[in-house]
Amino acid sequence: MCGIVGAVSQRNIVPILIEGLKRLEYRGYDSCGVAVHQDGRLQRARSTSRVAELMGQAEQDGIVSGTGIAHTRWATHGAPAVHNAHPHFSAGPGATADAVGRIALVHNGIIENHDELRAELKTRGYAFSSQTDTEVIAHLIDRYYEGDLLEAVQQALPRLKGAYAVAVFCRDEPHRVVAAREGSPLVLGVGEQGDEHFVASDAMALAGVTEQICYLEEGDVVDLQLGRFWICHLSAESGRYEPVQREVKRVQIHSGAAELGPYRHYMQKEIFEQPVAIANTLDAVGGISPELFGDGAYRVFNEIDKVLILACGTSSYSGLTAKYWLESIAKIPTSVEIASEYRYRESVPDPKTLVVTISQSGETADTLAALKHARAQGMTHTLTICNVATSAMVRECELAYITRAGAEIGVASTKAFTTQLVGLFLLTLALAQTRGRLSEADEAAHLKALRHLPVAVQGVLALEPQVMAWSEEFARKENALFLGRGLHYPIALEGALKLKEITYIHAEAYPAGELKHGPLALVTAEMPVVTVAPNDTLLEKLKSNMQEVRARGGQLYVFADGDTRIESEPGLHVIRMPEHYGALSPILHVVPLQLLAYHTACARGTDVDKPRNLAKSVTVE
Ligand code: M6R
Repeated sequence: MCGIVGAVSQRNIVPILIEGLKRLEYRGYDSCGVAVHQDGRLQRARSTSRVAELMGQAEQDGIVSGTGIAHTRWATHGAPAVHNAHPHFSAGPGATADAVGRIALVHNGIIENHDELRAELKTRGYAFSSQTDTEVIAHLIDRYYEGDLLEAVQQALPRLKGAYAVAVFCRDEPHRVVAAREGSPLVLGVGEQGDEHFVASDAMALAGVTEQICYLEEGDVVDLQLGRFWICHLSAESGRYEPVQREVKRVQIHSGAAELGPYRHYMQKEIFEQPVAIANTLDAVGGISPELFGDGAYRVFNEIDKVLILACGTSSYSGLTAKYWLESIAKIPTSVEIASEYRYRESVPDPKTLVVTISQSGETADTLAALKHARAQGMTHTLTICNVATSAMVRECELAYITRAGAEIGVASTKAFTTQLVGLFLLTLALAQTRGRLSEADEAAHLKALRHLPVAVQGVLALEPQVMAWSEEFARKENALFLGRGLHYPIALEGALKLKEITYIHAEAYPAGELKHGPLALVTAEMPVVTVAPNDTLLEKLKSNMQEVRARGGQLYVFADGDTRIESEPGLHVIRMPEHYGALSPILHVVPLQLLAYHTACARGTDVDKPRNLAKSVTVE
């Protein structure tokens, strides 16, 4: 999703801006651009190709400066095209749309009242050169500009409805960038050398430039100049911007530009990193205790009698798996809500609920908004399972468990999912313990199974050649069904999501018992039916559902536990998993589904790590 980098320095910052964009590439984008203050005017380069090419374009155009902003755009309003790419310039009233004026701006987010503002600005003589919601902000700031950029920004921002992070500079103030956030992430980077300052959507963009990071809060505006920065915040009481102090922390920034090593794609690398990611996630776990989730967890866990899980996409499926654990092991009523629905739904709040958000990035706009919505309704006990310790989600929640999956670059989430499941299983055990439902013997057995997981996952990864053989068949299909039951129904959902997002094959998942209530009508010899078949209490029921498919000529592709005695025969293809792994079995069963999606995508020649239309970090609604 859109990424912002901005800088004020005495040195040429163009390579820093573009390197920053490269580090944000993993978020997904379809165009990019850079603008600087040079020779008393605004200069820019914009492109619909990759960031690497933007550098060449900037060099060719001789773009060099100490003040500038840069952007990767993931199109929402207006097609991916150069004229819609940021930075946008304001030309001033009466000027033609392509005139170069005085305000340059980049934006991440969505301005909901852009139509209304556009109409107003047109009546004032502003001409528009793009279909974006962003261009109105540049013109609006221009409208209010009377020699002080900060003042103009402070007048324009309260008129915007929606979410934004913006960075802006002005032709008439050569060493100044003003940036602001409301609903989209933004950090300030305090320079390590000289008197320079930076802003970016993510600290990762500033890796190698500075480790002194300040996480700006909603409603903050930062004024960056050479040798000084100043933060102010829109006060709800006075309705005016007032100065605020924010902590600048030294943050060890892990570069997202990880090496691919022997792998073809980041997704493949990340699938194979799962044993290490799980081991790292368990590293600090000596035993089960609420304190694993932060100080105060013991009190919180004793004050709640329900769990509400809020998440999106893959993270919501780890939440759905956890519901089965929380209700069967800890006996806590648990509901799982898609964050984008929950945030707008009228629900019945209960303050004795532990609100659990799950997020790889910790910046997903819908999940953050759902969290706020829950809190606004009086549910103040919040906990997050998150992969980014410095993210907004971790800062906003009372308690946290940080998964240690490491940077996940591929848009399709893999190692983040399995490590989330580890964190959620620990949460289940800790909640069970505070309720006296975890005997010492059970705790020891669960810990033993958790610690053996990396080896067990390694065993499943060895199935890759068999899965590859199936992927050739799948590559020729346009539809697929995924079936699972109970604890493995969310795994079927995750398998279908993986397949559709990177292969573009239409895939749907059902609890196998639902087949005869509708989806069975789709089953023909052309329909591959992927079945997750652990040797659990529902196995015999699942076998009956498989018979329903076979009787209609459907092709079953079954991942069956070694002890299920499901054998291959015509119409029934079986890959044998290790023996049943008990409650943690979903963590093993998802792995071949990830591999199936990955190899099918390779066989179809799609862009595995950056599937069409998708972004890694979904920071807009
Ligand atoms: O960063 P988050 O975990 O909050 O992201 C949530 C979803 O956007 C994400 O899981 C998405 O569904 C993945 N592309 C799935 O592979």
